[in-house]
Amino acid sequence: MLRRLHSEQPESFTFTPQNQAWAEAQLTKFPENRAASAIIPLLWRAQEQEGWLTKPAIEYVADMLDIAYIRALEVASFYFMFQLQPVGSVAHVQVCGTTTCMISGADDLITVCKAKIASWPHKISSDGKFSWEEVECLGSCANAPMVQIGKDYFEDLTPERLMDVLQKLENGEGVTPGPQNGRFSCEPGSGLTSLKDFGAASSSCNASVQLALDHADTTKRIDGSEVPLVTPWRDREIENLQSVTGSTDTVKIEKDNGAETIEI
Ligand code: FES
Repeated sequence: MLRRLHSEQPESFTFTPQNQAWAEAQLTKFPENRAASAIIPLLWRAQEQEGWLTKPAIEYVADMLDIAYIRALEVASFYFMFQLQPVGSVAHVQVCGTTTCMISGADDLITVCKAKIASWPHKISSDGKFSWEEVECLGSCANAPMVQIGKDYFEDLTPERLMDVLQKLENGEGVTPGPQNGRFSCEPGSGLTSLKDFGAASSSCNASVQLALDHADTTKRIDGSEVPLVTPWRDREIENLQSVTGSTDTVKIEKDNGAETIEI
């Protein structure tokens, strides 16, 4: 599929202060002159902030990494995780349409998306809440057919179960990701045949689903409030500088790309 920038773009992009601090911290994970390696996490955070990846956002990230715009666009346009057009405000549904899902009912899931959301992929629903697209294999073939919504997989789907999930999201209700037919994970449909003490016998849902339920973040966008920004290697860098200079006075560190400044 040809992936290109959307015809309508905002004037500008800038990270929120929280996201800017997070992005600058990511750059410190990489050696000097290797900041470009941070491109995927930075593009991802830009998308989390805006909902989709705009041209100004791609250029903003490229400037932070000191790389040509085309290099950032190459990455953004290659990976389907990056949305190059506006998406629904509540959820963007990615329906796996590859072989296993296709022979297990992906077409029926797409029919639901067409009926509930919009007749064409990437078209936003009339209420602005949803959008959908067909994607290649998402690596959950043993639980076909499946869709990805936000950060979670919804597996072993039927059209009715997908409609129910979408309805709940529309109503602002919580949804439980993972297998939608009662399966614990990807064991045989008739149940475990070996290692029977493991899994369903000890927990009501698998670890992946439990984590999603604990965080309740299926469709919540990451904004920096989730976990504290911890960069112990920067603290060590400051300590080393203090030990070298023998001073606890202010020390300023500026990297070549100018993205980081630490003062003590
Ligand atoms: S074919 Fe759908 S997840 Fe692999």
